[in-house]
Amino acid sequence: MRRFGRVSAPGGASAQPVPLDQLPPGPRWPVLAQTVALMRFRHQFHPWLHRRYGDTFTVNLVPGNRPLVLFTRPEDTKQIFAGDPAVFHAGKGNAILGPVMGDHSLLLTDGDEHHRARKLLMPAFLGHALRGYRGMVAELADAEVAGWREGESFRSLGRMNALTLEVILRVVFGVTDEARLAQLRPRVNRTVEINPAILLGWAYPRLQRLGPWRRTVENQVELDRLIYAEIRERRRVDDLDQRADVLSRLLISSNEAEAAGERGLDDTELRDHLVTLLLAGHETTASSLSWALIEVGRSPDLLARTQRAVAEDDDAWLEAVLKESMRLHPIIPMVVRTLMEPTRVGEWDLPAGTTVGPSIIMSHQREANFPEPEVFRPERFLADPAPALNVWIPFGGGVRRCIGAGFSLMEGVEVLRAVFGRYDVTTVGSDVPKVRNITSVPRRGARIRVHRAR
Ligand code: HEM
Repeated sequence: MRRFGRVSAPGGASAQPVPLDQLPPGPRWPVLAQTVALMRFRHQFHPWLHRRYGDTFTVNLVPGNRPLVLFTRPEDTKQIFAGDPAVFHAGKGNAILGPVMGDHSLLLTDGDEHHRARKLLMPAFLGHALRGYRGMVAELADAEVAGWREGESFRSLGRMNALTLEVILRVVFGVTDEARLAQLRPRVNRTVEINPAILLGWAYPRLQRLGPWRRTVENQVELDRLIYAEIRERRRVDDLDQRADVLSRLLISSNEAEAAGERGLDDTELRDHLVTLLLAGHETTASSLSWALIEVGRSPDLLARTQRAVAEDDDAWLEAVLKESMRLHPIIPMVVRTLMEPTRVGEWDLPAGTTVGPSIIMSHQREANFPEPEVFRPERFLADPAPALNVWIPFGGGVRRCIGAGFSLMEGVEVLRAVFGRYDVTTVGSDVPKVRNITSVPRRGARIRVHRAR
């Protein structure tokens, strides 16, 4: 049977059906099997698709047999990232996150709304602001690692998750009140735990009366109550410019916009941005860090080199360790855009409605860009020139590039400094990636053992 996708003809003429078999090649399996393979077995499926179908391939997904075309060549990645944001929409691909993140989330909006929000959020994530957060992050990292027991093996992913959560609460939300922190922690944890099945079911109001959905809704209501209370109180303080946290900086950019006659951020927008930062920035950074710990911990040479970097304040090496860990162990498998009109991408003329995107997993495995791609080698990121932004793409790219990229690298450097400044780290056993909700995490939790460094 022939399958058809709908396409709007250029110039807005009436839509014509276009045979889906004009899309790049891909498996002919049942659509549910393709969806499950892509979501649950991404680390095996992307390489298999590449081996079998070449540099560009199509996977069809539920609901509605939607084609997703994945690209792996840097030139195609560059074109997608540089594409006109009016044609390459990103928000639609993330719609499933809407019930939790809210309609104003940066991840869900496109066009003018996205542009306006990005402009208001950006100052809180640039160099000057990042330097302001560094001290707080370093303190939290030191406090975390000081509590580690010598000689015992433990899952570093769990500890990194606890630490990055604390960073979000104090450095992003700027909460200092112990009582409120104690109320927020479990609520935030439960929000981060929400899995795709809960999110998919959210669209059906009747489900919201049942067990897991009801508990999720109740948790969300309570989390929102706490966040709104924090926002209201923060709006009233008279020392905003003395505070070095993301929420306070967002309020400053919002006040400046209003003073310039533009629209600032209302409470609902602020809430949506805070929840987005929480969900986008917590587990991603924790997982990257835990991969970095076990990669360094399995090689005495790398351990010695990293400890020397801490002693010599060589942040470039610590950052290279993080970048190489993000290359070899991508936390997010791909970046997606939905075409709003028929568009040629690479060698393919694709109909409107097709979702396209670079496979991060395969881009990071290209021998031409990363010789011996299976080897962990931070030196790649100290070379001149460093890997290009359409080759090393853990944070996506273009106008949608992760707004927290600089934040997470700054946070990562501080955490590595705290860990390797204090301990000899040894990796316990091996680990492989496992899909957890949207991110890929080390299946065994990235086990390590630490001894006080002499
Ligand atoms: C290792 C850590 C992280 C990884 C691997 C990561 C990865 C990504 C990726 C792949 C995207 C999509 C980019 C695109 O569509 O081109 C993204 C977007 C985003 N990330 Fe991150 N992220 C990380 C940490 C963070 C942190 C720490 C924050 C905030 C504190 C953050 C906030 C966001 C936001 C708000 C967006 C949406 C940007 C937009 O659509 O304009 N992320 N991230």
